[in-house]
Amino acid sequence: MKLVTLLCAAAVGCMMSAPVAFAQDQILIKFSHVVAQDTPKGKGAEKFKELAEKATGGKVKVEVYPNSQLYKDKEELEALQLGAVQMLAPSLAKFGPLGAKEFEVFDLPYIFPNKTVLRRVTEGPIGKQLFQKLESKGIVGLAYWDNGFKIMSANKPLIKPEDMKGQKMRIQSSKVLDAQMRTLGALPQVMAFSEVYQALQTGVVDGTENPPSNMYTQKMHEVQKHATITEHGYLGYAVIVNKKFWDGLPADIRTALDGAMKEATAYANDIAQNENDVAMAQMKASGKTQFREQTPEERAAWMKALMPVHKDTESRVGKDLIEAINKEAAAAGVKM
Ligand code: LMR
Repeated sequence: MKLVTLLCAAAVGCMMSAPVAFAQDQILIKFSHVVAQDTPKGKGAEKFKELAEKATGGKVKVEVYPNSQLYKDKEELEALQLGAVQMLAPSLAKFGPLGAKEFEVFDLPYIFPNKTVLRRVTEGPIGKQLFQKLESKGIVGLAYWDNGFKIMSANKPLIKPEDMKGQKMRIQSSKVLDAQMRTLGALPQVMAFSEVYQALQTGVVDGTENPPSNMYTQKMHEVQKHATITEHGYLGYAVIVNKKFWDGLPADIRTALDGAMKEATAYANDIAQNENDVAMAQMKASGKTQFREQTPEERAAWMKALMPVHKDTESRVGKDLIEAINKEAAAAGVKM
């Protein structure tokens, strides 16, 4: 009995000392995310791994866990705060439950008329101010990564905004997305990304919204009969790290990782549009979902139906923030 106890104690001792010894040699970054590897975010994460390990001469090892392998949407943020993983890239629509509700400004329908305006926001003072909101949550924001503009899918043609009435729609955990669906008369349902395919397949929900790359890589096109290329809203990511971990890194390592992240960001944002175009072409070729382009009149009708969401949610995301983004659009020469 005594020997067993001793052996156990020794084993536990070894287990406890191993990570410390390991940490002296190599710093481990667990990068968890919920999408497939073959997506803008999945490829961006792999690129960061490659660049970070190279830039630090192997002093840092990055392990990427795609497809909700480690954690689903809500759990991954908790895991980051607890330090169980070091890096994530959640969709900007998932920061509300954390108390950083201003991030939901990215979910407002038609807020970004194009990527130029988006870039002015993410790379300018607005993007920085938003990241500052995360510090009190024990999180540091490192970069903004694109996915793309969302399309709306269901099992019936979505031609007019009224076609959304009564449709059960899966959304991310954003109150702005909730308001967007309710404004259209749809019934929003918050659900983890990893559960969407099955929910569509079994009819728990009728439809959803996502950029083509996510729709294709999760095979949602196999369980959705119709989709309209509405591009009514944006989906992008904040690459974030555990603050305690990040601040505790040796300065030279942090600088090297910053450089790797800059390069990975340029790469991810560069490939995002093409990834979505290819996914769309693949889905069209499969013939499973019928895709519909909007006429200018149809797009105008959807815009008219959805623009009130800006006013309705301004008390949540901040009137000043919405105005600041509109100013960026005006400065980029877009008439709102
Ligand atoms: C979703 O939940 O629909 C997306 O945010 C998934 C992702 O990370 O792209």
